[in-house]
Amino acid sequence: MIRAVRGMNDILPDTTPLWQRLEHTARVLLLSYGYEEIRLPILEQTALFERSIGETTDIVEKEMYTFTDRNGDSLSLRPEGTAGAVRAVLQHNPFRNQAQRLWYMGPMFRRERPQKGRYRQFYQIGAEAFGMPGPDIDAELIILTRRLWRLLGLGGLQLEINTLGTATTRARFRQDLVSYFSASAEKLDQDSRRRLHSNPLRILDSKNPELQEVIQGAPTFERYVDPGSEQHFRQLREILEHNDIDYRVNPRLVRGLDYYSKTVFEWLTTELGAQGAVCGGGRYDGLVEHFGGEPTPAVGFAIGMDRLIELLRETPLNDIARTSNEPHLYLIVGGEKYYGSALRVAETVREAMPHIRLVTHCGSDSFKSQFKRADKSGARIALLLGEDEVSQGMVTVKHLRISSGQVTVPQSELIACLEKELARL
Ligand code: HAM
Repeated sequence: MIRAVRGMNDILPDTTPLWQRLEHTARVLLLSYGYEEIRLPILEQTALFERSIGETTDIVEKEMYTFTDRNGDSLSLRPEGTAGAVRAVLQHNPFRNQAQRLWYMGPMFRRERPQKGRYRQFYQIGAEAFGMPGPDIDAELIILTRRLWRLLGLGGLQLEINTLGTATTRARFRQDLVSYFSASAEKLDQDSRRRLHSNPLRILDSKNPELQEVIQGAPTFERYVDPGSEQHFRQLREILEHNDIDYRVNPRLVRGLDYYSKTVFEWLTTELGAQGAVCGGGRYDGLVEHFGGEPTPAVGFAIGMDRLIELLRETPLNDIARTSNEPHLYLIVGGEKYYGSALRVAETVREAMPHIRLVTHCGSDSFKSQFKRADKSGARIALLLGEDEVSQGMVTVKHLRISSGQVTVPQSELIACLEKELARL
C-alpha cells in the first residue's frame, strides 16, 4: 500500500469542521481589522528564502524541500509565507508609501523531525502589515491575535516579547557573543559549535539542558539595544498594558528567521509539550529594501493552525464542530423505480431550504437497513418515499430522535411541514 509521506497528514472529515470553524473565524476577524487576503504560490525560487530567512538558519540549511526544475532553476516549497508576501507586493505594487495590511492562509513545508505538533506539511494563517513604522501596528497585530483566541474560546496562552534592535546593533552583539562562546567552546554541543560563526544568536535559543549554564552567562542583548529600538519597545509595552495584555519580556527570544529587527513575539501554550509556540511574529523593517524595494517598515505574524486545532479539541467548539457535518434530513427510497421521484423531492427541498443538509440514500437497500443508515448519519428526520407515497404524490416525514411519530403529507406541502417539524427540534 502506498502511504502518505511522513509528516504530511490527511485531515479527515471528523476534523475538517474544526478547521473550517478556525478558518472562518480568522477570515471574518482579519477583514474586520482591514486585512485583505493575498494568495501566494506554494513554490518559489530557492533564492527568495535563502536571502530572507537566512542561509545559516535551520530552515534554509536543512529543512527546505528543494529541487531543480527541468529548466535548471532551483525551486523550493515554501517553508513560510513572509518571503512570498514581500516578493508579491514588490512585484505587483511598488509601495508608493502606502500602508497595506495583508493576510494569507495555507500549507507550508519544513523537513523537520515529525512529532506531536510538528509536521512536514503544516498550515499557517499569516498577516503582514507594510508601510507602518510605529509600535501601534505591532500592538494591533498582538491585540488581533488575542481576539482570535477569545473568539475561539482558548484560554491560557502566554505572550512573550523581545526586541532585536537594528542590524547594526545586532552585529555588535553578535561579535561579543562569538567571543564569549569561543572562550567556552568545549562546553558547546555540536550544533552550537557549528552555529558559533554562522549564527551565534541561535545558540541562545538552544533547548539542550547541558548548555543552559553557559547560555545563562552569555551577554544579553539589552545592553546593546539602540535608543530608537528601545523607545519603540517601551511604547509597545505601554500600549499592551493599556489594553490589558499580559506579557513576559524574554530577552532570549531570538526566533529562527534572520529577517527580524526590533519587535519579536510568540504566543505559547504549555499544553502541547515541546511544540509550545502557536504563533510567532515580529518586525522586519529591512526586508523590502533588501529585495530592492523602497525602504518600507513591515511587521507580521503567523499562527500554526495544526497546533491551534490540537488546543481546540479540548474546547466546546469541538462539540459544535463535531456535529456540524451531520445532515438534518435523510431521504429513504422504496426501490429503484422511485429514484427519479426521490431525487426530485430532494431538489425541491434544497431549492426552498438551501441551508438544510439533506442526504439521499443511494442504492436499493431494505427499509430496515436504510433506517439504520439514517440513524447512524445523525439526521434528525427521515423522509420516506415508498410505493404508497409515490402513487399518491405524498411523502412521509418521520422524526428519528424524538418519539413523536410520523406524518404523511402531500409533496406540495412538504416544505411547510419541514419548517414546522425542524422548528420543534
Ligand atoms: P515561525 O515561528 O517559523 O514564523 O512559524 C510560525 C508558527 O508556525 C509557529 O509558531 C508554529 O505554531 C507553526 N509552525 C512552524 N513550524 C511548524 C511545523 N513544522 N509543524 C507545525 N507547526 C509549525 C514564521 O513562519 C514567520 N513567517 C512569521 C512571521 C510573519 N513573521 C513576520 N511575519
